[in-house]
Amino acid sequence: DKGTYPFYMLKEIDEQPNVMRKLSQVYLNDNGQPVINQDLLDALKAADRLYIVAAGTSYHAGLVGAKLFESLANVPTEVHVSSEFAYNQPLLSAHPFFIFLTQSGETADSREVLLNVNEQKFPSLTITNVPNSTLSREATYTLLLHAGPEIAVASTKAYTAQIALEAILAKALGEAVGQSAARDFDVKQQLALVANGMQALVDEKDDFDAIAKADLLHTPNAFYIGRGLDYAVSLETALKLKEISYVQAEGFASGELKHGTIALIEKDTPVIGIITQANTAALTRSNLQEVAARGAKTITIVTNNLAQDGDTIVLPAVDERLTALLSVVPGQLLAYYTSLNKGLDVDKPRNLAKSVTVE
Ligand code: M6R
Repeated sequence: DKGTYPFYMLKEIDEQPNVMRKLSQVYLNDNGQPVINQDLLDALKAADRLYIVAAGTSYHAGLVGAKLFESLANVPTEVHVSSEFAYNQPLLSAHPFFIFLTQSGETADSREVLLNVNEQKFPSLTITNVPNSTLSREATYTLLLHAGPEIAVASTKAYTAQIALEAILAKALGEAVGQSAARDFDVKQQLALVANGMQALVDEKDDFDAIAKADLLHTPNAFYIGRGLDYAVSLETALKLKEISYVQAEGFASGELKHGTIALIEKDTPVIGIITQANTAALTRSNLQEVAARGAKTITIVTNNLAQDGDTIVLPAVDERLTALLSVVPGQLLAYYTSLNKGLDVDKPRNLAKSVTVE
């Protein structure tokens, strides 16, 4: 039931602070230590490489997860689009472990990979929102997202839940293999900060409605740019905008712009820069200046500690590894209000189904 909300998507965006709190309750004890099944941890410890396999938004959550597993647990991690991996399996390491990210647990492309993985007798984990879903039943292990039903076709709370759970799992694995980075990472405190930061963002809906009306409503195209984790979020926020508002939106690595994409910039093309990583902030800012000099209308989404006069949207600061949990929210709301102001059916965009059960 969507209650007083006009669309499920807005309700699900609003639920994200509570989803963060719920994951903390379910998977962290009072001391902030992860509570993860020991057999699963042993299987992860035995792996020399993790392979995250997913589609769409879940793939984008995997891109963030890889960074968490590498930085907290020091284990090499690859992320693959399921429909590609299924018929073009790359060379694998000696002891691979597969992680399937899937809100529905029913995505046919991801299932095809899991069937191949099972045939090769490799261990696997499905991270899903749906208990007893096909991918949950067929994988060796399952962790549930506890995000509550996600009805809108455009995925929002499942994305942030997947990232939060990856952070908890990466900390658990990192501690199990004696990584000090994992020990020092207070995921419980960080998720509490994230929840409060998300609440502050969703409380400012009118701001996002105004930006959507001014800059996105009448444009045929738009770009999100960033580097590293900000690039990963650019891909996700661009997908949100294109699937529900039908604006031709793309996410780009900001350093790649000058290698071709900048040719697309015209007067008033919206370019949204995501800046949450200290080591690349200045570089992305100079890429934004390059597009502004060619007429682009630039919008910035920046963490508080990196903000400057003139930034459009300022995010509360959290651990740099978790900024995706906050920087995605403005992108979700901008997509929502662009779609709403166009009078579209936000929850049921054309040509799309909630779960894609054909390859
Ligand atoms: O249920 P899954 O997470 O496996 O679904 C994967 C994609 O189909 C899904 O994320 C899709 O991209 C959404 N429409 C994105 O908003």
